[in-house]
Amino acid sequence: MEILHVSAECYPVAKAGGLGDVVGALPKYLNKQGHIAKVVIPMYRTKFLYAHEWDVVHKGYTNLGNWWFEFTVIRERHNVLGFDLYLVDINGLLDREKIYGYDDDSERFTAFQIAVLDWLSAWQHQPDVVHVHDHHTALIPFMMKYCYKYAGLSNIPTVLTIHNAQYQGWMGWDKTIYLPRWDTWRWGMLDWNNHINPLASGIKCAWKVTTVSPSYLEELKYMSNGLEALFEYEKGKCSGILNGIDVDIWDPAIDAYLDNHYSIEEAEAGKAKNKMLLCEQFGLDFDKPLISFIGRLVGEKGADLLPGAIGDSFYHIGRRMNFLVLGTGFPEVESALSALKPLGQYDYNVYIGYNESLSHLIYAGSDFLLMPSRVEPCGLNQMYSMRYGTVPMVRRTGGLKDTVIDVGDKGGYGLSYNDATVGDITHAVWRATELYHDHKKMNEVRTTMMELDFSWDRSVRQYVQLYTGLI
Ligand code: ADP
Ligand code: GLC
Repeated sequence: MEILHVSAECYPVAKAGGLGDVVGALPKYLNKQGHIAKVVIPMYRTKFLYAHEWDVVHKGYTNLGNWWFEFTVIRERHNVLGFDLYLVDINGLLDREKIYGYDDDSERFTAFQIAVLDWLSAWQHQPDVVHVHDHHTALIPFMMKYCYKYAGLSNIPTVLTIHNAQYQGWMGWDKTIYLPRWDTWRWGMLDWNNHINPLASGIKCAWKVTTVSPSYLEELKYMSNGLEALFEYEKGKCSGILNGIDVDIWDPAIDAYLDNHYSIEEAEAGKAKNKMLLCEQFGLDFDKPLISFIGRLVGEKGADLLPGAIGDSFYHIGRRMNFLVLGTGFPEVESALSALKPLGQYDYNVYIGYNESLSHLIYAGSDFLLMPSRVEPCGLNQMYSMRYGTVPMVRRTGGLKDTVIDVGDKGGYGLSYNDATVGDITHAVWRATELYHDHKKMNEVRTTMMELDFSWDRSVRQYVQLYTGLI
């Protein structure tokens, strides 16, 4: 079976978060199971682009409303990622340093989707499935069905995976001129609350819709930034498939970013060496448990609660633990976290920025990983942390609920709490410090977590079943 994935991110080429990790891994594991999965993303100005060799596979000329542009599709020559990777180059529009965050993102991603479909129309054969991810590529199912120019593609099944329904790509109706001529009777397939809503359109038009965990799909029916009724209405074609993790990259025994590798048997000593490095680098106290946070410093992740929870933990529990934060996001959260530094000179530190290599060291060297997310469609951090023997401290929501069982429950290994509040987090911090000092239990929990299987194989089988049902 041949699947074309269309996305805005793909690790290691371009990653802003978990979407990149998933699109960099799922196709590789589909290929390992004997399928042909390909990925196409925009050609940003990334290190990966300059470090690899490319072949031009297509040149096209098309338009975004009144603006006509040339585009080029290139393919990485040596299949270094384990799948065919294609980049779409649109001069001046896509070839920028950042993935998102420009005022003309609507134009950028609409033009990207048009270029992808123009290119696909020129293929000698057709893929069995076109699989799109999040709102940046969610107009594709609509365009394949209702744009006259793509009538030849209308029989190809489409799958939309929702990694995050908070962002929907809303555009004013004035932007309708960007779409290639379409059947205007179908305007309702684009509209949600008097806007063009690409994510809503994808949910309406894709043949199947998946979310990245089963619990997230349930939550979307009552909390999805305005799309609740749509999820309820379309529930028949929606299913939740939990993400996996790429165990070729995320394995403490071979991790290319680590100097001190370890397997399950030598986890305690291996983690201690990594913790020592972190403590040296960030001025922390090796003898106390290290509780870390890695992620986007935004409301969804509960990052704004961190300063309060760290302050309250020191105040109420005492200075019995270290905190380390790695992240970037809202400036006010960044400054609140930086402002805490003088308070915890030897037991708190923060690194504001994005640092892939440091993130690996933190997963390896921490004792606990804090995730007080308000919304977590799947969450990869908790799976990485468990694989590295680091106990996740998660709010019971979305994928966190589906992957972490509280240590107090039968067969449990993590720490869970119900609310994204300073009080619940502080209570979890207290539980973490108690667990840390129960050496036997801590070792038991570590072994249980490291033995859990979060590899892609299981999820890939579910995707293949879904695709097979469509063709
Ligand atoms: P999301 O996609 O919502 O940000 P996920 O848990 O799915 O959340 O994935 C986050 C990914 O991004 C993980 O691979 C995590 O390690 C990484 N990450 C997030 N913030 C940073 C950062 N500041 N530096 C390095 N890696 C980060
Ligand atoms: C999103 C979600 C995250 C998920 C990731 C990969 O960014 O916020 O929970 O793990 O996508 O699917």
